[in-house]
Amino acid sequence: MRSKTIPYALAASVAFAVAAANPVLAEEATTAEQTINVMNKLFGTHPGKRANHAKGVVAEGSFTPSAEATRLSKASLFQGPAVPVTIRFSDATGVPTIADGAANANPHGMSLKFKLVDGSDMDVVLNSLAYFPVATGEEFRDLLKAVSESGPDAKKPTALENFVATHPAAATAGATAKSPSSLARQTYNGVNAFVFVDRDGKRQPYRFRFVPVQGEEILSPEEAGKREPDYLMAEIGPRVAKEPAKFRVLAQLAEAGDPTNDATKPWPDSRKTVDLGTLTVTKAVPNSAEVEKSLLFMPNALTDGIEVSDDPLIDARVQAYAVSFGRRSQ
Ligand code: HEM
Repeated sequence: MRSKTIPYALAASVAFAVAAANPVLAEEATTAEQTINVMNKLFGTHPGKRANHAKGVVAEGSFTPSAEATRLSKASLFQGPAVPVTIRFSDATGVPTIADGAANANPHGMSLKFKLVDGSDMDVVLNSLAYFPVATGEEFRDLLKAVSESGPDAKKPTALENFVATHPAAATAGATAKSPSSLARQTYNGVNAFVFVDRDGKRQPYRFRFVPVQGEEILSPEEAGKREPDYLMAEIGPRVAKEPAKFRVLAQLAEAGDPTNDATKPWPDSRKTVDLGTLTVTKAVPNSAEVEKSLLFMPNALTDGIEVSDDPLIDARVQAYAVSFGRRSQ
């Protein structure tokens, strides 16, 4: 029951919270620093590892744009030809040894670094949630803090129960992310809204959706729990060596009035979805553990023709990723 109502890998967090002694947040710390402090308390501190999405595998591939993408955005990414992409798939939580099939390994992540023709990079950072449990960085910090204070011995109502009572998406978002049979058989979502700008300056808010061409294949929690601890990370390399894994890169387009500043609110499924092109994953890198150390994916690392929206979560993420990168690089 609990894992259904606890978002963003928080069921595991509750377990880790038992070991976490009453987190004290330094008054002078930024929201991002406070967030990373709570993550470290929940998941432990693991030198050189990410504060969240610590377990991952790095792969290589390419992106081929569609003709329709060119009309929506002037970004060089969409003008062709195909560009190389570095991809990192990951499990949620800051626990580098988490079992891939654990409920708390959801939402799985997919991060992409597109190598643009002008020599710059563009990043896209996705996960398998349909929508986020909270709308702001402060709320996310507060949610993690509530989890850390809501171990099995906590008095009822727990801090987490109180938080969920006033943040409805926090009760439901987690259940939208499920364990796949393969990292190549899961849909990954942008969650946050971004904005396309075309050659005439026309702006179109959208959300990314990367859909496996072979279709999604989801396991039951029982089935996922029985798989080998590394069944996802170990499978992707051999799979793509045999046959590249393809994803359709889609953009769900907002209509006037759709909120762009609230990642807890998915837009209706009836919104138009445009095919931007195809991502092809061709190989896992042989030295993934080493390569991932210097990789930093930033949700605001974009390119002319693609901009951030007014979603406050994007900057909250940028700040938190920078703090995490700073600590894991020491
Ligand atoms: C306020 C909200 C959020 C916070 C504070 C947060 C925090 C973090 C942190 C600290 C990391 C480790 C970064 C690093 O060391 O490089 C991380 C990684 C990641 N996050 Fe978030 N996150 C948030 C929201 C999201 C959302 C909305 C998504 C997906 C749409 C997402 C997907 C990911 C992924 C895929 C990674 C792994 C990045 C990699 O492969 O290097 N996060 N997050």
